[in-house]
Amino acid sequence: MTGSTLPDGRYAEKRLDKGMSHNSFGHLFRITTWGESHGPAIGCVVDGCPPGVPITQAEIQTYLDKRRPGQSKYTTQRKEPDTVEILSGVFEDEDGALVTTGTPIALQISNVDARSKDYGDIKDKFRPGHADYTYLEKYGVRDWRGSGRASARETATRVAAGAVARKVVPGLRVRGALVQVGPHKIDRANWSWDTVNENPFFCPDPKAAENWAEFLDEIRKSGSSTGAVIEIVADGVPVGLGAPLYAKLDQDIASGLMSINAVKGVEIGAGFESAALSGEENADEMQNGPPGWPTFLSNHAGGILGGISTGQPVVARFAVKPTSSISNPRSTIDKDGNNTEVVTKGRHDPCVGIRAVPIGEAMIAIVLADHYLRHRGQTGQDVAQDVDTNLEWLPTESSF
Ligand SMILES: Cc1cc2nc3c(=O)[nH]c(=O)nc-3n(C[C@H](O)[C@H](O)[C@H](O)COP(=O)(O)O)c2cc1C
Repeated sequence: MTGSTLPDGRYAEKRLDKGMSHNSFGHLFRITTWGESHGPAIGCVVDGCPPGVPITQAEIQTYLDKRRPGQSKYTTQRKEPDTVEILSGVFEDEDGALVTTGTPIALQISNVDARSKDYGDIKDKFRPGHADYTYLEKYGVRDWRGSGRASARETATRVAAGAVARKVVPGLRVRGALVQVGPHKIDRANWSWDTVNENPFFCPDPKAAENWAEFLDEIRKSGSSTGAVIEIVADGVPVGLGAPLYAKLDQDIASGLMSINAVKGVEIGAGFESAALSGEENADEMQNGPPGWPTFLSNHAGGILGGISTGQPVVARFAVKPTSSISNPRSTIDKDGNNTEVVTKGRHDPCVGIRAVPIGEAMIAIVLADHYLRHRGQTGQDVAQDVDTNLEWLPTESSF
């Protein structure tokens, strides 16, 4: 390094021997994703999925359709059908149904609506709050078209992989909801899972959904953006997943959720609120329950004790920051170090939290599938827990 500050000195040197690594997540159930926002396609390879897991293109598509952009005025207007192709790793079983073969599953999604010219004005400028500066500093080269690899376009592939992961743990159900937009929280007493799919926000509280519509309209029209909090609840998680001390289930959940673009905070169960509780309040009391199972009287632990699942619903929450690409001007510098202003045009999510709901679900499913296989590998136990929908536990019942 000569320490030159000229772009073709400073950044060309960085280009020489730097490669982008760390595109894989998980141990036994392992995903590797590839692709950029404005490249021809994005995709992932799911390695380690056991053979014989029934899976169809339509099933994977259902989850991708939840994350797809352009479905309401509250998300980016980029129109991507996000049609997934299964390129490998599945074959017909004796009855003609598609099942996994135990070989790598390659999933591909084409990019069909990229408009790279929208990014022309900011290709040499650093958007405050985005990854432009750090990518260029680290690698010396930056794909500015639609933010390249830093775009959450990549997360579509995680959602596809998550659809496979859900099938690996018998009886697993992973559901998510948006519980806060900007400063506006839901009223937990109104929580209804049915409502989640009846509004454009994945909001479990119909009243809050109405208020958010108004709030987000103002945010969008003013050229600004806002943050959000997403809650994921996984039930049917068998007792025993996770391991002390460096493979805690909560540790890996935090890692998976924190890997999602724009995530700035993760909590499990009562999370940060637990600091304000007394020992008595926080203790999830236990009673003799159905044969073989204890009954827990609350779930401040979010279904995890000592890094190991208790058999209760696993509850995690994550906060996303406001979208950094906004059309209101912000002060910044360009890559030559000149002071300037940046205004981001193009199509952006005014609140990335909405489409983060299916992404968070996918990451939790991937972590649980991985730990399920690791548990089986270490203990030889095939564990499962049926979800009894008559006794459904609602996040309203806990004092988060
Ligand atoms: C679903 C989703 C959609 C996103 N859409 C945008 C977007 O339209 N514009 C933008 O600037 N950032 C968007 N982001 C966030 C950026 O990808 C992210 O802020 C950027 O990669 C920098 O990484 P960091 O925020 O994790 O530090 C989105 C994030 C998610 C989860």
